[in-house]
Amino acid sequence: MKYRKFGNTGLEVSEIGFGAWAIGGSWGDQKDSDSLEALEIALDQGVNFIDTAAGYGNGKSERIIGEFLKSRPEAVTVCTKTPPAAGKWPPSPYCKIEERYPEKYLRENVEERLTNLQTSSLDVLLLHTWTRAWNDRPVALEILQKMKSEGLIKQIGISTPEHDQNCVVQLMRDGVIDVLQVIYNIFEQEPAAQILPVAKETGTGIIVRVAFDEGVLTGKYKGDEQFGKDDFRSNYFAGDRLARGVRRTEAIKEELKDSGYTMPQLALKFAMTHEAVSTVIPGIRNQNQALQNTAVSDLPELPEDLLMRLREHSWNRGFWYGGK
Ligand SMILES: NC(=O)c1ccc[n+]([C@@H]2O[C@H](COP(=O)([O-])OP(=O)(O)OC[C@H]3O[C@@H](n4cnc5c(N)ncnc54)[C@H](OP(=O)(O)O)[C@@H]3O)[C@@H](O)[C@H]2O)c1
Repeated sequence: MKYRKFGNTGLEVSEIGFGAWAIGGSWGDQKDSDSLEALEIALDQGVNFIDTAAGYGNGKSERIIGEFLKSRPEAVTVCTKTPPAAGKWPPSPYCKIEERYPEKYLRENVEERLTNLQTSSLDVLLLHTWTRAWNDRPVALEILQKMKSEGLIKQIGISTPEHDQNCVVQLMRDGVIDVLQVIYNIFEQEPAAQILPVAKETGTGIIVRVAFDEGVLTGKYKGDEQFGKDDFRSNYFAGDRLARGVRRTEAIKEELKDSGYTMPQLALKFAMTHEAVSTVIPGIRNQNQALQNTAVSDLPELPEDLLMRLREHSWNRGFWYGGK
């Protein structure tokens, strides 16, 4: 496993981190024993960064991680997220920051994160979503800065809203966040235009999420898979979305079949190739995925001509929320 600077935080994080959404819920059946084995193997392979959130199983993912880490001696950076108070997701342009992230709410929510993770100080706290409507007066971030100076949080940041990831560029330039979580994968290459270069320029640590586009870029789907009602993929891949993603993935597979990389390897390696990226956090839910995904860090770098060909597979489809 190779390690990279986490922006200007002073931390070194593993190129492959652990995406811990599915171990909390919303991804169909998940045995806690599988989750614990996956965590165990990932850390044995050198992972020192775990991403979770309040919303992953209503704190379940955090609680599993908090309990699990008591059995491990090594230092692990855990990133968690606070959602906005009840209301529209993503926040509408008319939402008021004081109503969605009020100080009392933020403080209570951070207390809950500390309890679930069994710690007295959060390594990284991200606001789980954002709107550019708040960029010029980011008072919620000022409150988090205060909590940072009180020792409750070490690094603060934002997880980009899917429909407007570029809204965070101003926040990086204004120096109000330490780190950022962003969608960047073979389909979603837009961050290469500005977010990643600005992160490099400002020393903002970059966490890449959804490197497999929620699974389709692993190349294992046929396009007719059915997901249970309680599985968020039944919504994400609703209608013909899965079939369209599969068609594009098949085109990548066909073109790159002699590259020597499997699709999961290609997808992860693509995301970590940009120098601004600190860690890529594939969702991991069992031993096999832990082993396969962590091994990608030590594979050879993608050759330049392969990278150039992958650029052609960028897909500006926008983002699908509910419905069609
Ligand atoms: N707004 C936000 O802040 C936000 C949103 C989304 C995700 N995240 C974070 O980012 C992490 C990664 O995103 P994600 O988990 O949503 O999606 P992802 O990484 O694109 O896909 C993860 C899924 O792919 C499958 N998979 C993993 N490794 C595989 C392999 N080697 N071969 C075949 N299949 C494999 C697993 O599902 P199956 O085994 O069921 O196929 C896994 O749950 C999350 O866990 C979470 O920590 C944050």
